[in-house]
Amino acid sequence: MDGNGRWASQRGWPRLVGHRRGAERVRQIVNACPDLGVRWLTVYAFSTENWKRSTEEVLGLMGIFSRYIQREAEKLNAEGVRVRFIGERSRLDQKLQRLMAGIEARTAANTRLNLTVAINYGGRDEMLRAMRRLIAEGADPDTLTEARIAQALDTRDLPDPDLVIRTSGETRVSNFLLWQAAYAEYEFAPTLWPDFTPEELARILDRFAGRERRYGAVM
Ligand code: IPE
Ligand code: MG
Repeated sequence: MDGNGRWASQRGWPRLVGHRRGAERVRQIVNACPDLGVRWLTVYAFSTENWKRSTEEVLGLMGIFSRYIQREAEKLNAEGVRVRFIGERSRLDQKLQRLMAGIEARTAANTRLNLTVAINYGGRDEMLRAMRRLIAEGADPDTLTEARIAQALDTRDLPDPDLVIRTSGETRVSNFLLWQAAYAEYEFAPTLWPDFTPEELARILDRFAGRERRYGAVM
């Protein structure tokens, strides 16, 4: 979800206004997913690198996450959305951590849409934490498998992504689902995230449906 800051700056507004508008977009995209046939949606909200931003912006984003969870929990639950988080949580404030655990528990039985929010997430950090876990568990190097590594990642309960969409015209991966996206298709949309509509998502999905995926094989 890239481009919130530029969206606001273009209008002469503070970056946080863009983040607020971006959060509203998440709500619309989440709403649209089930009818578009999307059962798993993962949104990148805050990276392990985003701490380098100003204190004002970081605290503002954390406030948006807390308010979003508080405001949307009931609606999401009523709509059958199961909410999960990936990323390293201990650096987040206690209140936010409690809200995250609360909505995860409350929506755990839902199956209509699986919404995962990546907060303080970085693919490299996730892999480092997975390696630490495996070593601590005494994993045997000779019998270690890709499946066991996948089980040590934050995404252990998620399928690999079929499609990764980055908005705002940037054509970088920026530490998102590095392990999991090995065979994902990528789409880079020029639209800034606050302007990204369900209609644009539908067009991208149509294009995706027409792609031939070979997973390294000749077909
Ligand atoms: C949103 O867009 C992504 C978040 C980190 C929340 P940006 O804040 O990266 O917006 P730009 O790239 O400055 O426009
Ligand atoms: Mg950006």
